[in-house]
Amino acid sequence: KPPQHRKGTFTDVPQELLTELKNLEELLTITPETLIKITDHFITELDKGLSKKGGNIPMIPGWVLDFPTGKETGDYLAIDLGGTNLRVVLVKLGGNRDFDTTQSKFALPKHMRTATSDELFDFIAECLKKFVDEEFPEGVSAPLPLGFTFSYPASQNSINEGVLQRWTKGFDIDGVEGKDVVPLLQASIEKVQVPIEVVALINDTTGTLVASMYTDSEAKMGLIFGTGCNGAYYDVVKDIPKLEGLIPDDIDPESPMAINCEYGAFDNEHLVLPRTKYDIQIDKESPRPGQQSFEKMISGYYLGEVLRLILLDLTLEKKLIFKNQDLSKLQTSFILDTSFPAKIEEDPFENLSDVADLFQNQLGIQTTSAERKIIRVLAEKIGERSSRLSICGIAAICKKRGYKSAHCAADGSVYNKYPGFKERAAQGLRDIFKWESKEDPIIIVPAEDGSGAGAAIIAALTQKRLKEGKS
Ligand code: GLC
Repeated sequence: KPPQHRKGTFTDVPQELLTELKNLEELLTITPETLIKITDHFITELDKGLSKKGGNIPMIPGWVLDFPTGKETGDYLAIDLGGTNLRVVLVKLGGNRDFDTTQSKFALPKHMRTATSDELFDFIAECLKKFVDEEFPEGVSAPLPLGFTFSYPASQNSINEGVLQRWTKGFDIDGVEGKDVVPLLQASIEKVQVPIEVVALINDTTGTLVASMYTDSEAKMGLIFGTGCNGAYYDVVKDIPKLEGLIPDDIDPESPMAINCEYGAFDNEHLVLPRTKYDIQIDKESPRPGQQSFEKMISGYYLGEVLRLILLDLTLEKKLIFKNQDLSKLQTSFILDTSFPAKIEEDPFENLSDVADLFQNQLGIQTTSAERKIIRVLAEKIGERSSRLSICGIAAICKKRGYKSAHCAADGSVYNKYPGFKERAAQGLRDIFKWESKEDPIIIVPAEDGSGAGAAIIAALTQKRLKEGKS
């Protein structure tokens, strides 16, 4: 049953609107029973993804075949192509579970999400050149090894390749899907003539996993709750049926293998997730309908959009709010990024003056006190739904691998900045596992810098294998 929100304070809200709010709350509520049902199906889907036939969840072997020891050393470059920034990092691995980083951020020009392949990789190469010129004014003697964090589903037959399966998170650049992005980047690097060799391609979740294991021996998973949502963990080569026949002879079947789950694609078949008409609309209007069903309900790229669609429905269809207001901005897709619902939730319920300002300044809408309360409850429910659903991937991996205790290392804007996310996620895990102990044995902990240190450590592990003549 949906929570009863501060009953007394709702006296100024018209009955019709209150009834509608109750319906919406119910729609966005994820009960413990639903969590358990989703987690059970999740386990089946993780297994399917590892099978020869495959399933919805890609379960991509990342070819990181070693656990970090914490003793890795050396200087490495790392880059991370995120949704809004390109981050370039110089990582100095200390060899004592420690590292130092120097970094620069380059804002990704707005049009880049839909630019051409050449424009994207030339932009990255230019940024790398600027960074290297600044950090190494005397030049570099040997090529700098680079770990490329590429946070999209990319198939890998080895650590230094990644064939983009499909763009996610609203990226839509022609001519990259189906191609190996490593030579594309390397070619652009050659054009600007900086001595850099791309030695490893890494998903952000795999980087997060490895970086966190480097400093925390209890870490079992790397998770991103950000613009997108995904997780990585180590499986064992012999337990990955789809690798049969693809594994070089010198690799021990008992060897660990990092898996980038790409579980944003969970339930693309729509069997268990309680999708609302708003989720369905987001999917339909996205550049890749039918893909990333789970991610589209929970990740940062979409949370503001869910709120916008609900508010539009209440305005245009139900005619219950924003009467006689200019709706032109509210009718613009993706006008509200995740910081918008996050800020609404940060505003204390008793006051809601920030909500008034947000709507006035960003949308040109003047809100009534009753409307602000509705908006506040909706933001809370959207955040709550996101955090509760988000942990089903964690629970499924723990159950699948038989982890009775684990540190699940998490990063990303939603995890780090969305109010209440951490508490609600922890509660979600308790609802699934029903622990009796005083302390939760499986906890989500803040991750180490995956796309900086993680990429560097993976590059170091790769170079060590090469030196030892291993595949
Ligand atoms: C999307 C990407 C995935 C990435 C995640 C978090 O789900 O497909 O590769 O790990 O976002 O950034």
